[in-house]
Amino acid sequence: MPHCQPARLWSALQCVFAGAAMMLAPLASAVAVEIAISCGAVGQELQVCKEGAEQWSKQTGVKVRIVSTPNSTSDRLALYQQLLAAGADDIDVFQIDVIWPGILGSHFIDLKRYAKGAETAHFPAIVANNTIGGKLVAIPWFTDAGLLYYRKDLLEKYGLKPPATWQELTSIAKKVMDAERQAGNEKMWGFVWQGKAYEGLTCNALEWIDSFGGGAIVNGRGDITVNNAKAAAALTLAAGWVGTISPDGVLNYGEEEARGVFQSGNAVFMRNWPYAWALGHSDDSPVKGRIGVAALPRGGTGGKHTGTLGGWQLAVSKYSKNQAQAADLVMFLTSRNEQKRRAITASYNPTIAALYKDPEVLKAVPFFGSLYETFTSAVARPSQVTGTNYNKVSTEFWETTHAVLSQRASAPDALARLERNLKRIKRAGW
Ligand code: GLC
Repeated sequence: MPHCQPARLWSALQCVFAGAAMMLAPLASAVAVEIAISCGAVGQELQVCKEGAEQWSKQTGVKVRIVSTPNSTSDRLALYQQLLAAGADDIDVFQIDVIWPGILGSHFIDLKRYAKGAETAHFPAIVANNTIGGKLVAIPWFTDAGLLYYRKDLLEKYGLKPPATWQELTSIAKKVMDAERQAGNEKMWGFVWQGKAYEGLTCNALEWIDSFGGGAIVNGRGDITVNNAKAAAALTLAAGWVGTISPDGVLNYGEEEARGVFQSGNAVFMRNWPYAWALGHSDDSPVKGRIGVAALPRGGTGGKHTGTLGGWQLAVSKYSKNQAQAADLVMFLTSRNEQKRRAITASYNPTIAALYKDPEVLKAVPFFGSLYETFTSAVARPSQVTGTNYNKVSTEFWETTHAVLSQRASAPDALARLERNLKRIKRAGW
């Protein structure tokens, strides 16, 4: 109760009302809806999610609470699995990775009746990926593909072009790194990427292997294909980077660690997702205006350019007490307007094809146009075919890769062991 010592009638009444309001407050807030949404926090992710959610909140009068989640997608999955397995209603809207619909889909509602056909504006392959047993478990929010970032100014300075093959990248990185160190930048590295033992390493290693023609770990029929000579050649080449063109610490790098080195001007090349573009061009970025973006190199002359398909979706928990409002927030955030805003302010790739022809989007992120094919033909991780086993498969794959990169095993031996382990996981079927 408020502290009241009324001297006059009006004050006494005010005091009574204030007291009554305070007693009613818990009741009112118990019925006021609040939607909790989990957002990623890599780079500008949290801020941009918050802006969008607040805009929706302003329009609808429904409160939103933003829940920040770990940067590593692997840690985020573990957290989600705990919450969802317990049937917790703490989070209404989940931001989920493109590889998770099979793993988590049973905890989400079917969004088809809320989407009312809006899903048809999105890339059909992603909608299909998010459809589990006929149920649309998530609406696409942004898509991702691995890209090669390079220092335009440094390549120009040494009369070099962006590399077409990984072998070329290896030699150019070394050449520029050595010359720059000689010229006084002791901190310069040739190539930074994601080498930590987590899902990001699966993405990087899949790119090396697929670019060599070594397949995508498990093929579309569910056969384990990863134990092959091309995959071994790809991993062996990558292992040679650690401690030469890439710092030893790369074995503990996620996306943000790699971006930190590149953006502070201390790397010639970086492998990263599109989000790094907007940050690299922010006003306080030391490399602003000096960055080029290309498709990742081919694995030798017989190989191909490839990038791993990544990206995030929004799903509504079936344990949510406010499913209709939660679904409304999802439809707002994944809408064309919101995807356009996110593309322009933070270089998140839209999942709505028409936005790749929008002049304002293309002005902000020119490579959405020039590298369009990289996005539409990105290589998928085998999450659809391995279903609920995907995280086990990926864990085996990144552990194997990490062992090769840290010289604990040769690529052929490690891949043979990986094949045996994957067969064991598959024994009961994927
Ligand atoms: C990006 C991708 C996601 C991937 C993750 C790995 O967030 O969008 O699909 O799993 O990186 O670190």
